[in-house]
Amino acid sequence: MNTSRILAIESSCDDTAAAVIEDGRVLSNVISSQKEHKDLGGVVPELASRAHQVQIVRVVSEALRMSGVNKADLDAIAVTRGPGLLGPLLVGVNFAKGLSLSLGIPLIEVHHMHAHIMAHFAEPPHPPFPFICLTVSGGHTQLVLAKTHLNMEILGTTLDDAAGEAFDKTGKLLGLPYPAGPWIDRLASQGEPKFKLPIPRIDGLDFSFSGLKTAIMYFLREGEKAEAGFIKNSIADICASVQQTIVNILLEKLERAVDLTGITHVAIAGGVSANSGLRRSLSELSVQKGWSSYIPSFEFCTDNAAMIGIAGYYKYIEGITSDLDMTPEPRGKL
Ligand code: KG4
Ligand code: ZN
Repeated sequence: MNTSRILAIESSCDDTAAAVIEDGRVLSNVISSQKEHKDLGGVVPELASRAHQVQIVRVVSEALRMSGVNKADLDAIAVTRGPGLLGPLLVGVNFAKGLSLSLGIPLIEVHHMHAHIMAHFAEPPHPPFPFICLTVSGGHTQLVLAKTHLNMEILGTTLDDAAGEAFDKTGKLLGLPYPAGPWIDRLASQGEPKFKLPIPRIDGLDFSFSGLKTAIMYFLREGEKAEAGFIKNSIADICASVQQTIVNILLEKLERAVDLTGITHVAIAGGVSANSGLRRSLSELSVQKGWSSYIPSFEFCTDNAAMIGIAGYYKYIEGITSDLDMTPEPRGKL
């Protein structure tokens, strides 16, 4: 097969990202993360859409420049179709359509959660199929059985909040900036997980985080009632306790998935897979259980366009492309 060069675009949430992939190898990976939402407690869709519009030309140009690939030598454009926020998705999809039309090359739609798993193929070691992937992001928490690059089966999913949301909503209660996951991670490393928080009992391989969120809210309220300044004085221990509880919930289900399927190649993906507590605990559990575990480099955990390009590449070599009348799917199923 001839060399394939794919430009990938990601704009589903608050990162404007572009990457160039050559034969499944990442040549460039450029991300512009929006700071607009930092003090607003979450992503404001309209602000995000506008920021994507401002950034997209620069980010795409930069990705092309860094890759050394000329626009005219591209073979396809891969773009996130969903899930995500409608306005932000529209910016990326419309930009990708325009380029596809003007360059006369195919458009390839990519599912954002599929792409998070495919981030494992951005660099070695690649997990062997079949493997189980715990995909944990700001909007999703899933246990996925990856059978091939393109065949994925959801084994379990969250019934309410996602793991990332549990971090972000806790952060809001603690007065931390959005997204709070990295802040909690950092503060947790300075504290001890000495506060007991409830682990939800959910059947099967599904998850639930809304009970934990409520429990944390009451715990903080009671703490402040008993000791003025409790949150401020104990923030590191609170973060360590919340982080350890979320990690325990996630790994308990991953362990159950391994027991049920007998598959011992396990991976984590998505923004929360950047969490140092999760990475450390998974490594320890893997040694203890004899699993082989796959943990992406930080640059491929949180939203990026390289993962969109890698997912796009595996579709491209199978000849799977999209029509130009494709529209974003904010709630697209995997
Ligand atoms: O995958 P991602 O970048 O975007 C979505 O697809 O949602 O995930 C973003 C989520 C946010 O909830 C953020 O707080 C969380 O990932 N996150 C972390 C860490 N880094 C990002 N959560 C815990 N610890 C981290 N180090
Ligand atoms: Zn994501």
